Amino acid sequence: MSNLPNIEHSIAIPYQLRVLFTENAFDSRNLLFSNLIRSGSNQGASRVIFYIDEGVAAAQPQLARNIASYCAVHGETLDLRGIHLLPAGEAIKNETDYLKGIYAEIEAQKICRHSYIVAIGGGALLDTVGFAAATAHRGIRLVRFPSTTLGQGDAGVGVKNGFNFRGKKNFVGAFAPPFAVVNDFSLLDTLPEKHLRNGYIEAIKVALIRDRDFFEWIEANAKALAAFDTAAMREIIHRSAQHHVAHIATSGDPFETGSVRPLDFGHWAAHKLEQLSGFRISHGEAVAIGIALDTIYSERMGLLDPHSAQRILDLIRKLGFETYAPELELENDLGQNATLAGLEEFREHLGGELTITLLSAIGKRLEIHEMDTKTILQSISDLRLPVSIELGR
Ligand SMILES: NC(=O)c1ccc[n+]([C@@H]2O[C@H](COP(=O)([O-])OP(=O)(O)OC[C@H]3O[C@@H](n4cnc5c(N)ncnc54)[C@H](O)[C@@H]3O)[C@@H](O)[C@H]2O)c1
Ligand SMILES: [Zn+2]
Repeated sequence: MSNLPNIEHSIAIPYQLRVLFTENAFDSRNLLFSNLIRSGSNQGASRVIFYIDEGVAAAQPQLARNIASYCAVHGETLDLRGIHLLPAGEAIKNETDYLKGIYAEIEAQKICRHSYIVAIGGGALLDTVGFAAATAHRGIRLVRFPSTTLGQGDAGVGVKNGFNFRGKKNFVGAFAPPFAVVNDFSLLDTLPEKHLRNGYIEAIKVALIRDRDFFEWIEANAKALAAFDTAAMREIIHRSAQHHVAHIATSGDPFETGSVRPLDFGHWAAHKLEQLSGFRISHGEAVAIGIALDTIYSERMGLLDPHSAQRILDLIRKLGFETYAPELELENDLGQNATLAGLEEFREHLGGELTITLLSAIGKRLEIHEMDTKTILQSISDLRLPVSIELGR
């Protein structure tokens, strides 16, 4: 045993989490991006490498050309080191070869800690490129351009990235605030309706756990949102992003060291459903079902009143989401419901005690530490046979 004293210092690192809003970011007259890069650089042009979601590149074939000419026009600020396309969707989070490819390019192009990696795409691409950026050289500046409503309101504006391992969602990942997020609304022009809708559910989620007024705004604007009205869509994205960022900045646990994850409301079942469906069910679609399930569960456990539960289900359905998928009732080899394994996986992911967020009212959450299996199964049946909760099922 040594009698030398322990050494202890607290280290506080101030992070700036900024989300900028624009349209046509790579029109050479739009100075937002070049000013952003210049704001982080002392002198000369900074190396920049772009990764674009193949789905976005196919839908917006002019994008890569616009980026190349933008960088040429703003050559005093931007030293373009490559524009690469990567596969779209969850596939990219499952295959380590893509990750290795990004590391190889970072090394080959001498992308350093003062360079920039720009990721343009859906949440899956942002998660993968973000993980590479967070880990290569122990952290390279990342600028995210989320191209989905889910990305612009949630996945793209936070401090997490992630990679799947053995089919388990986000088994690998890091907490790493981006240099900046640019929400370019013109990217959404080509997004298919199913994905336009997906962002709404994370907005409903954050409204349910934090802000009754926002929930009521979504209710009041449900028709416009269901019709993908531009103004309504921009507003819901802006408010959702505001809430997600505010939660991260003010909850006191930005890097989720505790076990309380309110932003994961509805997600324990959602992650499992995505996995059970082989990712046929997208993240947003799965979250809609997960929120519906935890809403009914909250009501069945007497935590949430039936009228509020019905309002929540009605809104989810009105926006065009399904609230049931047959995968909810798949069985494992032992003949047990397979969705339930999602609870144990969620606990493992949290590390330590299981903590699930439920609702006690619209806009008010509460945390519980165990769930009753029988009531979960009854709630699943309620979703299969959607009769009115208010009318006593
Ligand atoms: N890091 C986080 O905090 C966080 C939070 C929530 C979700 N996520 C993750 O985000 C992922 C889901 O992201 P997503 O909903 O954005 O879907 P996605 O990344 O799977 O993309 C959806 C599809 O839309 C296409 N696409 C994207 N933008 C397009 C555009 N503008 N025009 C045409 N096509 C376009 C893509 O090519 C893809 O096929 C999940 O992996 C989820 O786990 C991460
Ligand atoms: Zn989510």
